[in-house]
Amino acid sequence: MHLWWLDAVLYEVYIRSFADSGGDGIGDLAGIATRLPYLRDLGVDGIWITPFYRSPMADHGYDVADHRDVDPLFGDLATFDALLTDAHRHGLKVLVDLVPNHSSNAHPAFRAALAAGAGAPERDLYIFRDGRGENAAQPPNNWVSVFGGPAWTQVADGQWYLHLFAPQQPDWNWRHPQVRADHDTTVRFWLDHGVDGFRIDVTHGLVKNDLLPDNPPAPGETITFFRERAEPHAWDQDGVHEIYQRWRAIVEDYDRRDGKARALVGETWVADPRRLARYVRPDELHLTFAFSLLAAPWSATAWRSAITEDLAATAEVGAPATWVLSNHDVIRPASRYGDGDGDGDGDGDGDGAIGLRRARAALLTLLALPGPVFLYQGDELGLPEVDVPPEARQDPVWERSGRSRPGRDGARVPLPWSEHAQPFGFSAAGVTPWLPQPDAWADLTAQAQASDPMSTLVLTRGALALRRALACLGGGALRWRDDLAPGCLAFDRPGVPGAPDQAGLTCVMSTAERDTTCALPGRLILASGPVGYDGVTLALPPDTTAWLAPR
Ligand code: GLC
Repeated sequence: MHLWWLDAVLYEVYIRSFADSGGDGIGDLAGIATRLPYLRDLGVDGIWITPFYRSPMADHGYDVADHRDVDPLFGDLATFDALLTDAHRHGLKVLVDLVPNHSSNAHPAFRAALAAGAGAPERDLYIFRDGRGENAAQPPNNWVSVFGGPAWTQVADGQWYLHLFAPQQPDWNWRHPQVRADHDTTVRFWLDHGVDGFRIDVTHGLVKNDLLPDNPPAPGETITFFRERAEPHAWDQDGVHEIYQRWRAIVEDYDRRDGKARALVGETWVADPRRLARYVRPDELHLTFAFSLLAAPWSATAWRSAITEDLAATAEVGAPATWVLSNHDVIRPASRYGDGDGDGDGDGDGDGAIGLRRARAALLTLLALPGPVFLYQGDELGLPEVDVPPEARQDPVWERSGRSRPGRDGARVPLPWSEHAQPFGFSAAGVTPWLPQPDAWADLTAQAQASDPMSTLVLTRGALALRRALACLGGGALRWRDDLAPGCLAFDRPGVPGAPDQAGLTCVMSTAERDTTCALPGRLILASGPVGYDGVTLALPPDTTAWLAPR
């Protein structure tokens, strides 16, 4: 069986912001279909589509009211089936999002739980508890929501329910057999429709400490992603693993029947690489994002240790590390890496030139790493984070945090495809997209970049084409190089005997502040920016990556 995901490049489609075919300013399934040729020509192997299920959209689809139907905002099941057939015709795999930690508060099971009242068996599908203190007026424990505010909401009869995210996203009780069985049905439903796998939301959250003890007092600073140390009772509990064993068995059953391989990919925000690797043991998920690299600052040393640790930990369980620098929840690399003051809000880099240079270098290094890579829509255009005006912000994080955190809208602004003004080909002319697009994006459209040989789009296409063409890229070994210039991240991807590129490839990325030179006799294959090379010595400016074929 061809395990296609071992070296695949997958592209995250954040559906609301990819392409709008319906003229309502919100992306949809038919919109994705119109852009499949673009994705094929970009050279990715497949797409992950963020949730398109029935939802009141309190968290833009991550609050699911019916996991086995399409929300009319995005199309219907027939549109999905047509998109899947089309994607497969273009040679693209399709992963869909599975959101098992919570449902929407509009889910029939949650409505039934509310209606049934305290103590009713319907409440056991979620996590309802009595409050503490006088009149049980205090929440059952001190847990806080990832989006800000308490993780508990009180209902009319006085009980409280747990939501690790927004109040509109009540957490399922994964100890309940009905919850397990219902999700099995959902997994089978989409497999029956022909999907190639799932990206699974918040895999480290499904099971909580049964006793729901208080977490240690909250630290002063805001914790955003890796939360298991500060909140040890809510995340990364041992009980989650049997759920993934269950789904792995279901998926393998399908694989055996038709000889095709399907992938389970976890969104697991767990900082310790060894704890993370437990999610990709041979009978669990196939892949899980290596977020430590995404979280690493712009420094060769930090990158090297993140990559080394992830490779070592996943190798121990026989899985590849899954590389990613960007998604719909984090600040876009072109702003994040340019952030001079280091606070991660992307505001430190006046004209964005440093950030873009680093994002291009990072992308090229990412694509040279062994194992699968996920790109986020717009990475290939080098899009920056957008400072969405407060009145236009839609992410629940903004309000839930008492307007102290801007939220994730800045990474979710609809893509600029063409033309010179909003909506830049995202929607039909005259339609206002759901988040405003900056005027400056006129220079960053896919159309404008397609004819500019120095553009990030052309760079990405080139890198992806080489990744396909060269046997030494994709899966395989990585050997660190210590003999090159300090401040550089340098590694070899050894050549594959018998392949035309037997010499392999050396990838060098400079995060140094000054120009560096490295002795590297060979051929220059690709670079993220201007470099000097005479066939022997590479002159590498700061924030640049080069791929070379050694002699
Ligand atoms: C994941 C999603 C994020 C969502 C959250 C709750 O982290 O990527 O967008 O808000 O889960 O479902």
